[in-house]
Amino acid sequence: MKEEKIIIANWKMKLSLAETINLTKKIKTKFKDVSGVEIAIAPNFISLLEVGAVLKGTNIKLCAQDVFWEDLGAYTGEVSPSMLVEAGCQYVIIGHSERRKFMMENYEMIHREAKAVLGVENLTPVVCIGENWDERKTDRRDFVLYDQLQQALSGLDIMGNQEIIVAYEPIWAIGSGTAIEPTEAEYAHKIIKLTLNDMFGMKIVNNNFKIIYGGSINTKNAKGFIDLDNLDGMLVGGASLDVDEFYKLIKVITK
Ligand code: PGA
Repeated sequence: MKEEKIIIANWKMKLSLAETINLTKKIKTKFKDVSGVEIAIAPNFISLLEVGAVLKGTNIKLCAQDVFWEDLGAYTGEVSPSMLVEAGCQYVIIGHSERRKFMMENYEMIHREAKAVLGVENLTPVVCIGENWDERKTDRRDFVLYDQLQQALSGLDIMGNQEIIVAYEPIWAIGSGTAIEPTEAEYAHKIIKLTLNDMFGMKIVNNNFKIIYGGSINTKNAKGFIDLDNLDGMLVGGASLDVDEFYKLIKVITK
């Protein structure tokens, strides 16, 4: 499972509907020669179907930015895992720090979402964790990562070839323009891997988990990350919003 790195482009709420489709079309045309990497695009909810239609016939996958934990019912404004599958999504981001900050999402909710996503076929949760600046400054990062993983994932049954992606995103690096040092990411990924080994056993971690990094990845710093141990890919925000920049980034990674 592990050979190809995965790059997930998180477009957040940064593009209008027209801009979203426009960028998707440009990517479809420009990325024809790209191989050796898996790419997924996470547009806003209401663009998913149209983006999926544009991407048809390419290897680029569709990713949602959020999901609710129930399947159907009176949950105004929410979208369920099975609906995302119907819309063509293969990935869904869960518990992004911006949702934790602005929508008060907590790890109990993230746990429910991850569980619900694993309950449908062909949808992979991308579970976000990461410390804030205060936690890093006061040397509590290792515990924070351990605790977030425990809260998000403990008790989940991971079966067969189900896949879970853990996205390590130090909150203070997101959108800051400066990624953390690759060695620091490598260390954090080691903590994540050890914690997951403890929770699920090495065999499941090796077969069913990927660990990716997110936070101000760009064309200049991507190379430093891509060859790290325990790094299976990246979650990219800002650098995926311009077709040329994103293409350059993918080329840096696949070289
Ligand atoms: P950024 O966003 O690359 O713009 O820092 C990453 C993310 O929020 O996932």
